[in-house]
Amino acid sequence: MQNSSGDARHTEQIEAHGLKALRLSASGSEALVYLHGAHLASFRTSEHGELLWTSELAVYAPGKAIRGGVPLCFPWFGPHATQSYLPAHGFARTREFRFEGSEMRGDNVVAELSLSSSEDTLPLFPHSFTARLRLTVGRELSVAFEVENTGVEPLDYELALHTYLGVSDVRHVEVSGLGDAVYDDKVSGERALTQGREPLRFTGETDRVYDSSARVTVLDVARKRRLVIDKTCSATTVVWNPWIEKAKRMADFGDDEWPGMLCIEAANTGARRISLPPESRHTTTTIISAETP
Ligand code: BG6
Repeated sequence: MQNSSGDARHTEQIEAHGLKALRLSASGSEALVYLHGAHLASFRTSEHGELLWTSELAVYAPGKAIRGGVPLCFPWFGPHATQSYLPAHGFARTREFRFEGSEMRGDNVVAELSLSSSEDTLPLFPHSFTARLRLTVGRELSVAFEVENTGVEPLDYELALHTYLGVSDVRHVEVSGLGDAVYDDKVSGERALTQGREPLRFTGETDRVYDSSARVTVLDVARKRRLVIDKTCSATTVVWNPWIEKAKRMADFGDDEWPGMLCIEAANTGARRISLPPESRHTTTTIISAETP
């Protein structure tokens, strides 16, 4: 991307909560992304307002993951498979990314941030890589996460674009698109369950990993909107709401905030992890928009 300083008409370099950030504006929409974790914290459209959710208790500090928005879970998802002392969901969400530039493409602004392996990451993940987050902001939001294997050995990784959607009340929304999909239930520990054809409704703590590449929609009648979560090159979808007790256990999550959010995460986890041969790349994308039902 040529314009590394960004064009002030669509890209403002700002400081928010003491962290470096970019404000991206196009087609009446606005997004805020921190360089810390390449963490997208806000996406609002002129018609539907804020589509994402961020906790009032989110911590904005080096080394901490921001609770809300779209944390990048990379290069593993959840606890590390063999070394439990390593950070949950990998390290990308707590590393400073580099702003590579932004430009207008049609009616959208496109910004790119990158993170390369370094002396800091190699002890945690012994692979050479460059990861690039490409955000396209316009009437809809596209979050594309590309990983390039810059080493000489194959590189295996997991990834989740851990999207916290804002909802009026999770107890009253309906999620469609996962009909007949097989999932693992991380709350009960049961594996290979099958989702029925009915829309998914929420009555308790939910933490599921679906084997699904499908588009998901979230009907939110009270907000008069349907959120649409499309994706490409993502074979798993994570659905998460902590509900009452788990919310209370998280220091950066208000006790009463859980009804207002729902995570629908485009992911490649577990058996669907990505195996990248040397000198190759893979991109996973989630595309988020809202419509009037
Ligand atoms: C979800 C996981 O994606 O992230 C949950 O499926 C986890 O198991 C949640 O609790 C939040 O993780 P963290 O590390 O941000 O508290």
